[in-house]
Amino acid sequence: VNNEEQTILDAYQWLVKLYHHLLRHTKDGKKALEYLYDRGFSDEAIDQFQIGFSPTSRDFIAQFLEKKGFHKQRMANAGLLTAGNEGSYYDRFQARVIFPIRNHLGKTVGFVGRTISDQQPKYLNSPESSLFKKSKLLYNFDLARSEIRKKGEVILFEGSADVIAAYQAGVTNGVASLGTSLTESHASLLRRYVDTVLICYDADDAGQNATYKAIQLLKKVGCNIKVATLPHSYDPDQYIQEYGGDKFRTEVIETADTEMVFFMKYLKKNFNLKLEGDRLQYVERVIGEIAQLDSSIERDHYIRELAEEFNLSYDALSQELMSQMRNIK
Ligand code: UTP
Ligand code: MN
Ligand code: MN
Ligand code: MN
Ligand code: MN
Repeated sequence: VNNEEQTILDAYQWLVKLYHHLLRHTKDGKKALEYLYDRGFSDEAIDQFQIGFSPTSRDFIAQFLEKKGFHKQRMANAGLLTAGNEGSYYDRFQARVIFPIRNHLGKTVGFVGRTISDQQPKYLNSPESSLFKKSKLLYNFDLARSEIRKKGEVILFEGSADVIAAYQAGVTNGVASLGTSLTESHASLLRRYVDTVLICYDADDAGQNATYKAIQLLKKVGCNIKVATLPHSYDPDQYIQEYGGDKFRTEVIETADTEMVFFMKYLKKNFNLKLEGDRLQYVERVIGEIAQLDSSIERDHYIRELAEEFNLSYDALSQELMSQMRNIK
Protein backbone atom coordinates (compact mmCIF):
# COMPACT_ATOMS: atom_id res chain seq x y z
CA VAL A 1 0.00 0.00 0.00
CA ASN A 2 1.55 3.30 -1.08
CA ASN A 3 0.84 6.74 0.38
CA GLU A 4 -1.87 7.53 -2.10
CA GLU A 5 -3.65 4.25 -1.35
CA GLN A 6 -3.32 4.76 2.40
CA THR A 7 -5.10 8.09 2.03
CA ILE A 8 -7.94 6.37 0.19
CA LEU A 9 -8.19 3.69 2.88
CA ASP A 10 -8.37 6.42 5.53
CA ALA A 11 -11.14 8.17 3.65
CA TYR A 12 -13.08 4.93 3.35
CA GLN A 13 -12.65 4.34 7.06
CA TRP A 14 -14.19 7.74 7.81
CA LEU A 15 -17.08 7.09 5.47
CA VAL A 16 -17.85 3.67 6.93
CA LYS A 17 -18.19 5.30 10.35
CA LEU A 18 -20.19 8.23 9.02
CA TYR A 19 -22.64 6.12 7.00
CA HIS A 20 -23.14 3.75 9.91
CA HIS A 21 -23.74 6.64 12.29
CA LEU A 22 -26.27 8.19 9.89
CA LEU A 23 -28.15 4.91 9.70
CA ARG A 24 -28.15 4.36 13.42
CA HIS A 25 -28.66 7.76 14.90
CA THR A 26 -30.30 10.19 12.52
CA LYS A 27 -33.81 10.93 11.40
CA ASP A 28 -32.64 10.61 7.81
CA GLY A 29 -31.42 7.11 8.45
CA LYS A 30 -34.60 5.98 10.12
CA LYS A 31 -36.31 4.98 6.90
CA ALA A 32 -33.31 2.93 5.87
CA LEU A 33 -33.12 1.28 9.27
CA GLU A 34 -36.77 0.35 9.05
CA TYR A 35 -36.18 -0.99 5.56
CA LEU A 36 -33.43 -3.23 6.95
CA TYR A 37 -35.60 -4.41 9.87
CA ASP A 38 -38.37 -5.20 7.40
CA ARG A 39 -35.94 -7.36 5.47
CA GLY A 40 -35.11 -9.20 8.68
CA PHE A 41 -31.67 -7.72 9.41
CA SER A 42 -30.90 -7.78 13.13
CA ASP A 43 -29.19 -4.98 15.06
CA GLU A 44 -26.27 -7.32 15.65
CA ALA A 45 -25.87 -8.00 11.95
CA ILE A 46 -26.19 -4.32 11.07
CA ASP A 47 -23.28 -3.60 13.42
CA GLN A 48 -21.25 -6.65 12.50
CA PHE A 49 -21.39 -5.84 8.79
CA GLN A 50 -21.06 -2.08 9.41
CA ILE A 51 -24.08 -1.35 7.28
CA GLY A 52 -24.80 2.32 6.72
CA PHE A 53 -26.96 4.85 4.96
CA SER A 54 -26.00 7.55 2.48
CA PRO A 55 -28.29 10.57 2.78
CA THR A 56 -30.33 12.21 0.07
CA SER A 57 -27.91 15.00 -0.68
CA ARG A 58 -25.86 16.20 -3.60
CA ASP A 59 -22.65 16.92 -1.75
CA PHE A 60 -22.88 15.95 1.90
CA ILE A 61 -20.01 13.48 1.54
CA ALA A 62 -18.01 15.82 -0.68
CA GLN A 63 -18.14 18.48 2.02
CA PHE A 64 -17.41 16.01 4.78
CA LEU A 65 -14.30 14.69 3.02
CA GLU A 66 -13.10 18.21 2.30
CA LYS A 67 -13.50 19.18 5.95
CA LYS A 68 -11.44 16.17 6.94
CA GLY A 69 -8.66 17.46 4.70
CA PHE A 70 -9.05 15.09 1.76
CA HIS A 71 -8.37 16.37 -1.73
CA LYS A 72 -11.63 16.18 -3.67
CA GLN A 73 -10.05 15.55 -7.06
CA ARG A 74 -8.11 12.62 -5.61
CA MET A 75 -11.25 11.31 -3.97
CA ALA A 76 -13.01 11.49 -7.31
CA ASN A 77 -10.13 9.71 -9.05
CA ALA A 78 -10.45 6.91 -6.51
CA GLY A 79 -14.22 6.72 -6.94
CA LEU A 80 -15.29 8.09 -3.55
CA LEU A 81 -16.84 11.15 -5.20
CA THR A 82 -18.16 11.83 -8.65
CA ALA A 83 -16.67 14.72 -10.60
CA GLY A 84 -19.18 17.10 -12.17
CA ASN A 85 -18.67 20.13 -14.37
CA GLU A 86 -16.18 22.91 -13.62
CA GLY A 87 -14.47 21.41 -10.64
CA SER A 88 -17.64 20.47 -8.79
CA TYR A 89 -17.88 17.19 -6.97
CA TYR A 90 -20.88 15.33 -5.77
CA ASP A 91 -21.85 12.20 -3.85
CA ARG A 92 -21.93 8.93 -5.72
CA PHE A 93 -24.35 7.25 -3.33
CA GLN A 94 -27.59 9.03 -2.53
CA ALA A 95 -30.43 7.62 -0.46
CA ARG A 96 -28.97 4.12 -0.41
CA VAL A 97 -28.24 1.46 2.16
CA ILE A 98 -24.47 1.08 2.15
CA PHE A 99 -22.64 -2.25 2.45
CA PRO A 100 -18.90 -1.71 2.96
CA ILE A 101 -16.77 -4.11 0.91
CA ARG A 102 -13.63 -5.06 2.76
CA ASN A 103 -10.51 -6.71 1.38
CA HIS A 104 -8.95 -9.80 2.95
CA LEU A 105 -7.17 -7.59 5.49
CA GLY A 106 -10.47 -6.15 6.68
CA LYS A 107 -9.93 -2.73 5.09
CA THR A 108 -12.89 -1.19 3.32
CA VAL A 109 -12.04 -0.62 -0.35
CA GLY A 110 -15.46 0.00 -1.85
CA PHE A 111 -19.19 0.20 -1.27
CA VAL A 112 -22.27 -1.48 -2.60
CA GLY A 113 -25.30 0.78 -2.30
CA ARG A 114 -28.84 -0.53 -2.49
CA THR A 115 -31.74 1.77 -3.10
CA ILE A 116 -34.51 1.85 -0.51
CA SER A 117 -37.01 3.17 -3.04
CA ASP A 118 -37.43 2.15 -6.65
CA GLN A 119 -34.46 4.18 -7.85
CA GLN A 120 -32.50 2.59 -10.69
CA PRO A 121 -30.15 0.82 -10.65
CA LYS A 122 -31.18 -1.25 -7.67
CA TYR A 123 -27.52 -1.82 -6.78
CA LEU A 124 -24.78 0.70 -7.36
CA ASN A 125 -21.13 -0.20 -6.77
CA SER A 126 -17.99 1.83 -6.30
CA PRO A 127 -16.11 2.01 -9.58
CA GLU A 128 -13.18 -0.32 -10.20
CA SER A 129 -9.86 1.02 -8.91
CA SER A 130 -6.45 -0.27 -7.92
CA LEU A 131 -7.92 -1.09 -4.49
CA PHE A 132 -11.41 -2.17 -5.56
CA LYS A 133 -11.28 -5.04 -8.02
CA LYS A 134 -14.50 -7.00 -8.03
CA SER A 135 -12.85 -9.85 -9.90
CA LYS A 136 -10.56 -10.40 -6.90
CA LEU A 137 -12.72 -9.47 -3.90
CA LEU A 138 -15.21 -11.69 -2.14
CA TYR A 139 -17.72 -10.07 0.20
CA ASN A 140 -17.20 -11.15 3.82
CA PHE A 141 -14.05 -13.15 3.14
CA ASP A 142 -12.20 -11.37 5.94
CA LEU A 143 -14.77 -12.16 8.61
CA ALA A 144 -15.52 -15.68 7.41
CA ARG A 145 -11.94 -16.74 6.76
CA SER A 146 -11.26 -18.59 10.03
CA GLU A 147 -14.63 -20.35 9.87
CA ILE A 148 -13.99 -21.30 6.25
CA ARG A 149 -10.63 -22.80 7.14
CA LYS A 150 -12.03 -24.62 10.17
CA LYS A 151 -14.89 -26.18 8.23
CA GLY A 152 -12.84 -26.81 5.09
CA GLU A 153 -15.85 -25.51 3.23
CA VAL A 154 -17.04 -22.17 1.93
CA ILE A 155 -20.53 -21.22 0.83
CA LEU A 156 -20.71 -19.02 -2.21
CA PHE A 157 -23.62 -16.58 -2.53
CA GLU A 158 -24.52 -13.93 -5.08
CA GLY A 159 -25.11 -10.94 -2.86
CA SER A 160 -24.36 -9.30 0.45
CA ALA A 161 -27.98 -9.70 1.60
CA ASP A 162 -27.67 -13.47 1.12
CA VAL A 163 -24.43 -13.63 3.12
CA ILE A 164 -25.98 -11.65 5.97
CA ALA A 165 -29.22 -13.63 6.04
CA ALA A 166 -27.17 -16.84 6.14
CA TYR A 167 -25.00 -15.42 8.91
CA GLN A 168 -28.14 -14.75 10.96
CA ALA A 169 -29.18 -18.33 10.31
CA GLY A 170 -25.89 -19.51 11.83
CA VAL A 171 -24.17 -20.17 8.51
CA THR A 172 -21.01 -18.15 9.05
CA ASN A 173 -18.72 -19.46 6.31
CA GLY A 174 -20.44 -17.57 3.49
CA VAL A 175 -18.97 -15.15 0.98
CA ALA A 176 -20.41 -13.45 -2.09
CA SER A 177 -19.11 -12.73 -5.55
CA LEU A 178 -21.05 -9.44 -5.75
CA GLY A 179 -23.09 -9.88 -8.86
CA THR A 180 -20.14 -10.45 -11.13
CA SER A 181 -19.73 -14.08 -11.91
CA LEU A 182 -16.97 -15.97 -10.20
CA THR A 183 -13.54 -15.44 -11.71
CA GLU A 184 -10.40 -17.57 -11.90
CA SER A 185 -8.79 -15.47 -9.18
CA HIS A 186 -11.78 -16.01 -6.87
CA ALA A 187 -11.53 -19.73 -7.52
CA SER A 188 -7.82 -19.97 -6.78
CA LEU A 189 -8.18 -17.79 -3.69
CA LEU A 190 -10.86 -20.14 -2.32
CA ARG A 191 -8.84 -23.22 -3.24
CA ARG A 192 -6.07 -22.09 -0.90
CA TYR A 193 -8.46 -22.37 2.04
CA VAL A 194 -10.87 -25.19 1.28
CA ASP A 195 -11.47 -28.48 -0.43
CA THR A 196 -15.17 -27.93 -0.89
CA VAL A 197 -17.16 -25.04 -2.29
CA LEU A 198 -20.92 -25.11 -1.83
CA ILE A 199 -22.56 -22.89 -4.43
CA CYS A 200 -25.78 -21.25 -3.30
CA TYR A 201 -26.74 -18.87 -6.08
CA ASP A 202 -30.25 -17.69 -6.93
CA ALA A 203 -32.72 -20.21 -8.33
CA ASP A 204 -33.39 -18.17 -11.47
CA ASP A 205 -31.86 -18.58 -14.94
CA ALA A 206 -29.07 -16.08 -14.29
CA GLY A 207 -28.15 -17.81 -11.05
CA GLN A 208 -28.24 -21.29 -12.54
CA ASN A 209 -26.14 -20.29 -15.55
CA ALA A 210 -23.66 -18.61 -13.20
CA THR A 211 -23.58 -21.81 -11.13
CA TYR A 212 -22.69 -23.84 -14.21
CA LYS A 213 -19.85 -21.44 -15.07
CA ALA A 214 -18.58 -21.34 -11.48
CA ILE A 215 -18.44 -25.15 -11.43
CA GLN A 216 -16.18 -25.19 -14.50
CA LEU A 217 -13.76 -22.72 -12.87
CA LEU A 218 -13.77 -24.46 -9.50
CA LYS A 219 -13.18 -27.85 -11.09
CA LYS A 220 -10.15 -26.46 -12.88
CA VAL A 221 -8.51 -25.53 -9.58
CA GLY A 222 -9.43 -28.89 -8.05
CA CYS A 223 -12.29 -28.08 -5.66
CA ASN A 224 -15.01 -30.49 -4.63
CA ILE A 225 -18.29 -28.90 -5.45
CA LYS A 226 -21.75 -29.01 -3.94
CA VAL A 227 -24.76 -27.11 -5.15
CA ALA A 228 -27.69 -25.96 -3.03
CA THR A 229 -31.11 -26.10 -4.61
CA LEU A 230 -33.76 -23.54 -3.71
CA PRO A 231 -37.37 -23.50 -4.85
CA HIS A 232 -37.76 -21.96 -8.29
CA SER A 233 -36.99 -18.21 -8.45
CA TYR A 234 -36.04 -17.93 -4.77
CA ASP A 235 -32.77 -16.55 -3.53
CA PRO A 236 -31.19 -17.55 -0.20
CA ASP A 237 -32.21 -14.34 1.53
CA GLN A 238 -35.84 -14.70 0.46
CA TYR A 239 -35.86 -18.37 1.42
CA ILE A 240 -34.57 -17.65 4.91
CA GLN A 241 -37.12 -14.88 5.41
CA GLU A 242 -39.95 -17.13 4.37
CA TYR A 243 -38.94 -20.50 5.81
CA GLY A 244 -36.49 -19.58 8.57
CA GLY A 245 -32.87 -20.35 9.30
CA ASP A 246 -33.36 -23.89 10.63
CA LYS A 247 -34.98 -25.03 7.46
CA PHE A 248 -32.31 -23.28 5.42
CA ARG A 249 -29.57 -25.17 7.22
CA THR A 250 -31.19 -28.58 7.18
CA GLU A 251 -33.00 -28.56 3.86
CA VAL A 252 -30.79 -26.39 1.70
CA ILE A 253 -27.22 -26.41 3.00
CA GLU A 254 -26.94 -29.83 4.63
CA THR A 255 -28.71 -31.57 1.78
CA ALA A 256 -26.95 -29.83 -1.09
CA ASP A 257 -26.67 -31.76 -4.35
CA THR A 258 -23.51 -33.16 -5.82
CA GLU A 259 -22.16 -31.47 -8.90
CA MET A 260 -23.47 -34.32 -11.08
CA VAL A 261 -27.00 -34.09 -9.73
CA PHE A 262 -26.93 -30.36 -10.43
CA PHE A 263 -25.72 -31.01 -13.95
CA MET A 264 -28.44 -33.58 -14.59
CA LYS A 265 -31.10 -31.10 -13.48
CA TYR A 266 -29.53 -28.14 -15.27
CA LEU A 267 -29.17 -29.93 -18.59
CA LYS A 268 -32.79 -31.05 -18.61
CA LYS A 269 -33.90 -27.53 -19.43
CA ASN A 270 -32.35 -27.84 -22.89
CA PHE A 271 -34.33 -30.93 -23.83
CA ASN A 272 -37.94 -31.90 -24.25
CA LEU A 273 -37.83 -35.15 -22.36
CA LYS A 274 -41.25 -36.17 -23.64
CA LEU A 275 -39.62 -36.83 -27.01
CA GLU A 276 -37.71 -40.05 -27.38
CA GLY A 277 -35.00 -38.44 -29.52
CA ASP A 278 -34.38 -35.74 -26.91
CA ARG A 279 -34.34 -38.30 -24.12
CA LEU A 280 -31.62 -40.32 -25.81
CA GLN A 281 -29.54 -37.24 -26.56
CA TYR A 282 -29.89 -36.12 -22.98
CA VAL A 283 -28.78 -39.52 -21.69
CA GLU A 284 -25.73 -39.46 -23.96
CA ARG A 285 -24.76 -35.99 -22.78
CA VAL A 286 -25.05 -37.02 -19.14
CA ILE A 287 -23.00 -40.14 -19.75
CA GLY A 288 -20.36 -37.89 -21.32
CA GLU A 289 -20.23 -36.02 -18.05
CA ILE A 290 -20.23 -39.20 -15.94
CA ALA A 291 -17.30 -40.47 -18.02
CA GLN A 292 -15.20 -37.63 -16.63
CA LEU A 293 -15.65 -38.65 -13.00
CA ASP A 294 -12.53 -40.07 -11.37
CA SER A 295 -14.24 -42.56 -9.10
CA SER A 296 -15.57 -45.78 -10.59
CA ILE A 297 -18.00 -46.09 -7.69
CA GLU A 298 -19.49 -42.73 -8.53
CA ARG A 299 -19.65 -43.54 -12.23
CA ASP A 300 -21.50 -46.75 -11.47
CA HIS A 301 -23.89 -44.97 -9.12
CA TYR A 302 -24.96 -42.39 -11.67
CA ILE A 303 -25.22 -44.90 -14.51
CA ARG A 304 -27.62 -46.89 -12.33
CA GLU A 305 -29.65 -43.80 -11.53
CA LEU A 306 -29.86 -42.85 -15.17
CA ALA A 307 -30.89 -46.36 -16.22
CA GLU A 308 -33.62 -46.36 -13.62
CA GLU A 309 -34.91 -42.88 -14.37
CA PHE A 310 -35.25 -43.52 -18.10
CA ASN A 311 -36.06 -47.18 -17.88
CA LEU A 312 -33.04 -48.18 -19.98
CA SER A 313 -30.82 -51.19 -19.49
CA TYR A 314 -27.87 -50.79 -17.15
CA ASP A 315 -25.73 -52.88 -19.52
CA ALA A 316 -26.43 -50.67 -22.49
CA LEU A 317 -25.58 -47.52 -20.54
CA SER A 318 -22.40 -49.10 -19.17
CA GLN A 319 -21.31 -49.90 -22.70
CA GLU A 320 -21.98 -46.34 -23.75
CA LEU A 321 -19.95 -45.15 -20.76
CA MET A 322 -17.01 -47.39 -21.77
CA SER A 323 -17.01 -46.07 -25.27
CA GLN A 324 -17.21 -42.45 -24.15
CA MET A 325 -14.38 -43.02 -21.69
CA ARG A 326 -12.21 -44.39 -24.50
CA ASN A 327 -12.93 -41.20 -26.44
CA ILE A 328 -11.67 -39.05 -23.56
CA LYS A 329 -8.32 -40.87 -23.47
P1 UTP B 1 -29.56 -9.85 -7.41
O1 UTP B 1 -30.12 -9.22 -8.64
O2 UTP B 1 -29.79 -11.29 -7.20
O3 UTP B 1 -30.02 -9.03 -6.15
O4 UTP B 1 -28.00 -9.54 -7.36
P2 UTP B 1 -31.43 -9.22 -5.49
O5 UTP B 1 -31.45 -10.48 -4.71
O6 UTP B 1 -32.49 -9.05 -6.51
O7 UTP B 1 -31.40 -7.96 -4.52
P3 UTP B 1 -32.36 -7.68 -3.29
O8 UTP B 1 -32.53 -8.95 -2.52
O9 UTP B 1 -33.65 -7.19 -3.86
O10 UTP B 1 -31.64 -6.63 -2.50
C1 UTP B 1 -27.17 -10.25 -6.47
C2 UTP B 1 -26.10 -9.36 -5.95
O11 UTP B 1 -25.32 -8.86 -6.99
C3 UTP B 1 -24.82 -7.61 -6.67
C4 UTP B 1 -25.38 -7.20 -5.33
O12 UTP B 1 -24.42 -7.50 -4.33
C5 UTP B 1 -26.57 -8.10 -5.21
O13 UTP B 1 -26.87 -8.39 -3.88
N1 UTP B 1 -25.20 -6.68 -7.72
C6 UTP B 1 -26.34 -6.87 -8.43
C7 UTP B 1 -24.39 -5.62 -7.98
O14 UTP B 1 -23.35 -5.46 -7.34
N2 UTP B 1 -24.77 -4.73 -8.96
C8 UTP B 1 -25.91 -4.89 -9.66
O15 UTP B 1 -26.23 -4.05 -10.53
C9 UTP B 1 -26.70 -6.00 -9.39
MN1 MN C 1 -32.60 -9.15 -8.80
MN1 MN D 1 -29.59 -12.82 -8.73
MN1 MN E 1 -30.74 -12.38 -5.46
MN1 MN F 1 -32.32 -10.96 -2.80
